[in-house]
Amino acid sequence: MDKDTFRDNLVQDYLTKINLNNEIKAYFKSKNILVTGGAGAIGSNLTIALSKLVGDGKVIVLDNLSATHDGSPWNLINKPNIMFVKGDVRSDRDLKRVFKERVDIVFHLAAFFANQNSVDYPETSAEVDVLGMIKLLEISTLSEVEKFIYASSGCAIYGSFPELPLKEDFISMHLTTPYQINKMTGEMYCNFYMHHYGLNIVNCRFFNSFGPGEIPGQYRNVIPNFIYWSMKGRQLPITGDGSETRDFTYVLDLVQGLIKSAYYKEAIGENFNLAAGREISISDMAKQVQKVTGNEIEFLFKERRKWDTKPRLLASIEKASRLIDYKPIIDFDEGFKANLDWFKLFDEEIEKSSDFPPGMSAALK
Ligand SMILES: NC(=O)c1ccc[n+]([C@@H]2O[C@H](COP(=O)([O-])OP(=O)(O)OC[C@H]3O[C@@H](n4cnc5c(N)ncnc54)[C@H](O)[C@@H]3O)[C@@H](O)[C@H]2O)c1
Repeated sequence: MDKDTFRDNLVQDYLTKINLNNEIKAYFKSKNILVTGGAGAIGSNLTIALSKLVGDGKVIVLDNLSATHDGSPWNLINKPNIMFVKGDVRSDRDLKRVFKERVDIVFHLAAFFANQNSVDYPETSAEVDVLGMIKLLEISTLSEVEKFIYASSGCAIYGSFPELPLKEDFISMHLTTPYQINKMTGEMYCNFYMHHYGLNIVNCRFFNSFGPGEIPGQYRNVIPNFIYWSMKGRQLPITGDGSETRDFTYVLDLVQGLIKSAYYKEAIGENFNLAAGREISISDMAKQVQKVTGNEIEFLFKERRKWDTKPRLLASIEKASRLIDYKPIIDFDEGFKANLDWFKLFDEEIEKSSDFPPGMSAALK
């Protein structure tokens, strides 16, 4: 199947399943929407979904392509109403260029991803995730955008050993990486711009996204890396004893949450979790990866990384369900199958872009 059609169909099938109501569809019609980080794992899916809603409006993607490594936005599809701008959220010039398009809504997903990367490069993490974000909030305020939706992170808010399921009324000061500190700071800046300037912000706290669009790499999440290694018949390294759990969330369920966050007035000024609301252990996930890729090599157990102080992650999604009618609909197996199909179809692009420089990753040592 043609690659653009594959990505487009996946998103279209999902939108058909969730059947957004006519008010939501009308809200997005003819809007100009900026997605920073729109060539990334979550942003590419969001961009494709929004391109179906804006009609004669447009989706402007601002992305420096640091996640694709080969300098091309191959994670996106070609459509007349998707405008790709290669640029950086830290650059005033690049920001001015995209805001010339009369932006109505901003989805801020660009980030220096993620925990281990920020441990290795703490200054760049702060430059992108704090200073870049302030520049974007400034220009969004000056441009009087209607909404500013921020991709926050559950791991940045709830610290090491909170009570489960994680609820929004708890926050922790015990964060263990610069990424977590900077993502939490991002929420605080959103709150400041709302309080001081009346910018309509929404803080969406994502949990462990997986699905088509996430390129494996030394700093990436466990699912794409396990699929990538297992398809090559390599041993899967588990940092911990495998009983650790994560709230793995299919990427298009997050996209649903983002779309609804922009539409519902009840979301303005709020923070809430966007997750699947179910726990899956690392060893169960790894067994599934091995089963579907026909890999029988025993796992390699390694010490948990120093910053990884979360033996379990499970989010409450009650607040998002109440405020924005958020309902994740994709179970793990279905999402996993779509992820695997993507790996097979995009094997050449993934091979070119996956980033595992020798001896670099402290996470893999
Ligand atoms: N993936 C997850 O599990 C997860 C969990 C919690 C929060 N989040 C947040 O969601 C957002 C999207 O995550 P993702 O998994 O799609 O990440 P990603 O790395 O795939 O996408 C981020 C995109 O931002 C771009 N980018 C990085 N620095 C930039 C800069 N300075 N200027 C412009 N573009 C830049 C990258 O090239 C990439 O395409 C991030 O803000 C992340 O912190 C993700």
